[in-house]
This record gives sequence, C-alpha cells and structure tokens, in this order.
Amino acid sequence: MTQPTYTADDLRARIAALPRVRLGFLPTPIQRCAHLSADLGVDLWVKRDDLTGPAFGGNKMRNLEWRMAEAQASGADILVFGVEATSNSARQTTAAANMLGLPLVLVLRGHPDTDVQGNLLCDLVLGAEVRLLDLPSYHDLGRAVAEVVDELRAQGRRPWSLNHGKMFEVGAALATVENFLEILDLLAPHGRRPEAIYISSGGKGLAGLALAKKALGLAVRVVGVSCTSNEDPWQYASDTANAAAALLDLAVTVSPQEIEATYDYIGPGYGIPTPDGMDAILAFARREAIVLDPVYTGKAAAGLLDHIRRGIVPQGATVVFIHTGGQPALFTQSEAIVRHIQARRAGAARATEARA
Ligand SMILES: Cc1ncc(COP(=O)(O)O)c(C=O)c1O
Repeated sequence: MTQPTYTADDLRARIAALPRVRLGFLPTPIQRCAHLSADLGVDLWVKRDDLTGPAFGGNKMRNLEWRMAEAQASGADILVFGVEATSNSARQTTAAANMLGLPLVLVLRGHPDTDVQGNLLCDLVLGAEVRLLDLPSYHDLGRAVAEVVDELRAQGRRPWSLNHGKMFEVGAALATVENFLEILDLLAPHGRRPEAIYISSGGKGLAGLALAKKALGLAVRVVGVSCTSNEDPWQYASDTANAAAALLDLAVTVSPQEIEATYDYIGPGYGIPTPDGMDAILAFARREAIVLDPVYTGKAAAGLLDHIRRGIVPQGATVVFIHTGGQPALFTQSEAIVRHIQARRAGAARATEARA
C-alpha cells in the first residue's frame, strides 16, 4: 500500500500546533564548504545546529523547546534530569532551565574523580545542582532520577522528570523533521536540493530525518552515524519515527529496513576518540574553520569523508552534514587531540624529509 505524501507547509503547520517555548536561535544557518567541496569533489554544506544559541548551543536546544513546554504544563517548580556526566544534553538543559527561571537537579552518571572540564564545568557555572553518582550502567539513571523526584516531593516540591516526559525521544525526532525543512529552505535559493544528509545519531535525530524524507516523498539518502553503543539504531529510529508520525498525525510508517545507519566509525567505544575522527576534526577546522567534537560530530564526519572517498556519496552530489554541536568535549579530550596533532606533524615532517 502506498502511503500519502505531505508538503513542507503541511509538516510545518503540524509542528507549529504543538505546545512549545522558544529558547534557541532558529533557524540555524547553513554553510557552504568551498574548500572541502573542491578537495573531495562534492558539493558539501554544513547545517550549523551547533549554533542554536544558549550556553554554546547544540542539537538538544531544539527538542528542549517541546520538552520544557511539557514541563511547564505539568506545573513543575523544579526539574530533574539524569544523564552521563560528560553530556552535552546536561549543559543545554541547564541553560534552558535558567532561561525559564526553573531550578534543575542534574543526576549525572560519572566517577567521583571525573575531571571538572567541558560540559561538567559548564553545568557548574550555569548553576545546576549536580549529583554525581557512580552508577554501573546508563539504565540505572531512570531509577536514580525517580528517587530524586520522590525526595523532592517529600519536601513539598513539584518536581518534573525530564527523562520520563512524553517528548523526551519524540522531541528529538521533531527537531530533525524541522531541521530537514530548514535545509530545503536554505538550499533552495542556491538552486540546490540535498542528495544525502549525514548526522551523528544513535537513532532519535536520524528518526526525524527518515520521517521527513518519507512524508515528503523525497529521494534523498539520510544516514545516521552512531557514536554511542548498546543501541539498535535501526529499530530504535523506526520506533521513534513512528511515534513522531503519530504525534503529528501523519499516515506514514518508517520500517527499520528504511533506516540507514552505521556503527563503523565508533572505534573502540562511546567517548573514545578515534584517529579518523580527529583527522576529520582537523580537516573541517583547517579547511572551513568549523570546529567539530571528538565524541559525536568528528566521528560522524569521518564516516561522511570515508563514504565520499569510497564513492558511496557520488562525486558532484550535494551533501549536507548536520553539525549537532558538542564542542566542549574538545577540552576534556585535549591530551588525545594534542598527541594526534603532534603525530600528524611528525609524519608530515618525515614525508618531507624522505622527498628531499
Ligand atoms: C553533539 C551530539 N551529536 C549527536 C547526538 C546524538 O543524538 P541522537 O542520538 O539523539 O540523535 C548527541 C546526543 O547526545 C550529541 O550531544
């Protein structure tokens, strides 16, 4: 059975009907990468969702606009959010809470001796109440958050768990449905349509792109480069896309087979920098003055560069890389990055010597 397709205006109107608080600087710009395009033989653009605004920006600021509306509607007087200690999401959530004048308890999974750098430093500067817990797994966070919620309730507060809201996952998919529409709008005056869109995603952001593509009936390839572990991005993205379709009342389903995701660039694991990821950081920084991060966007860009070199993205194609932010991790990974720059410099010097 063929599914109906929708116009961009249809999708925009359905998104506009959802309760939302404005927090980010949207739409974010798109940047043409003239040097990398010439180097690689493609027409490369970067969608700058690292520039969503508050507290260094990043992809979470968009979905927080729906999640915070949900929190406000609950009548909460305090927010609770549980996530990894190094999380970009924690930083952006603290920024959003400050903008709304709501206190926030961050339940962070990390070792007691976690370096106070990058996002964690930002959380403290922004003034979240940080509770650092040495939990065995990410999945223990839900219970830890529930305990803090109970504790606050016992004190007569009205807490809201940002982990348990309906918009937690679906909001991240709505964010990229909207971003997809922005990409089409921003490329149109240049006479371009994307032929491929790449994003660092464990499934949620990818879900929105896959849904938008299907709802609009476009032939664009959307590719998620997963930089986190323990997930099935195919099923997860399909489930999340279908939940977002239901919320927007779209008669569209996205199957796991329609999801294009890869784990090939994660390296030894989540948060561990890879040589290819660091090479991608240097390429984007040095050729385009775009700063990526070692945990998400550097690895995703390594995937994109590899797909271009292998012809999976054909020569001449218009390709968009969504920069989802995360740069504070550069500062927590400074030793590995400096070592990598020195190794590359030494390699280049040896090559020059050999040629002389
Ligand atoms: C910078 C950055 N990029 C990408 C992602 C992945 O987002 P998702 O898996 O929700 O699509 C995250 C999530 O934390 C992130 O912080």
